Amino acid sequence: MKLNIENTTIKLPGLKREYHFYHITDAHITHAGAQDSEAERILMEKDIEKYTTTPGLTLPGEAWDMLMEQIKDDPATDALLITGDMFNFFNLSTHRMIRDMFKTCPVEILYTPGNHEFCNPVDVAYTPELQALVRPTDPALDIHVMYHKFYDEFMGGDADFWVRDYGDFLIVGINNEDHDITPSQMDRLKEQASRNLPILLMMHVGVRSDSYIEVIKANWQGLNMYFLFENNDSPMNKAFSDFIRSPESNVAAVIAGHVHAAHAGEYAPGKMQYIAAPLYEKYVRKITVTPC
Ligand SMILES: [Fe+2]
Repeated sequence: MKLNIENTTIKLPGLKREYHFYHITDAHITHAGAQDSEAERILMEKDIEKYTTTPGLTLPGEAWDMLMEQIKDDPATDALLITGDMFNFFNLSTHRMIRDMFKTCPVEILYTPGNHEFCNPVDVAYTPELQALVRPTDPALDIHVMYHKFYDEFMGGDADFWVRDYGDFLIVGINNEDHDITPSQMDRLKEQASRNLPILLMMHVGVRSDSYIEVIKANWQGLNMYFLFENNDSPMNKAFSDFIRSPESNVAAVIAGHVHAAHAGEYAPGKMQYIAAPLYEKYVRKITVTPC
């Protein structure tokens, strides 16, 4: 068993050296211990059964361990990029396990959340019987607020927006897991773009392009808008979408996940979008950023 590593080169102007990244997405890890509910343990067992009995899949933890060996053997690696859905659903046991997994990574992790980071077991509809077992939802509790603090520590202090400054280019992480860009995210992106450094933009949900739409259709029985960032016409989303396409934005490429298939294609003239397949398919994209 070995990782399925796809090599990608991104050329950026003004770089003083080459940079090397690994990109993974959609590990969909579930963990439940004795202290968790029966329903959470059942969900974990169902996930493990899926990963161990479906041809081509592997346990995400095993793929993670293989990736850690790969990175240890590749000392030029600058960082590991994770574009969300590390969790299959949120509970404290999974959070603790993923925090321990991150401690085994020999390089910095740059992580932006997906929709499953903000799922609780109730949202995972396996069977009505299972749902009845899971802890009740209180409509007054906003999961996005409740869970946020658990992710901030992994994501530069703010899961909604962070910047990693390499001096000659920036990697910016934006939380678009619920598909809506906030005015604050938009302002902060514009502020970074005004620095006139190339930007690699990490998000969970990919942006519209003809070639990406074909990937959605091929993998999700038609054009399921859930897999497109531009799935609504909100003025802020339109402004964001226009901005990352404009030459003035300095956004050179989008790095994303969510659709559970690998894709590389232009989303605007001269601007590429790179989407990774799930880690549980042992897919890893190795990105070399070179000067042009
Ligand atoms: Fe997702």
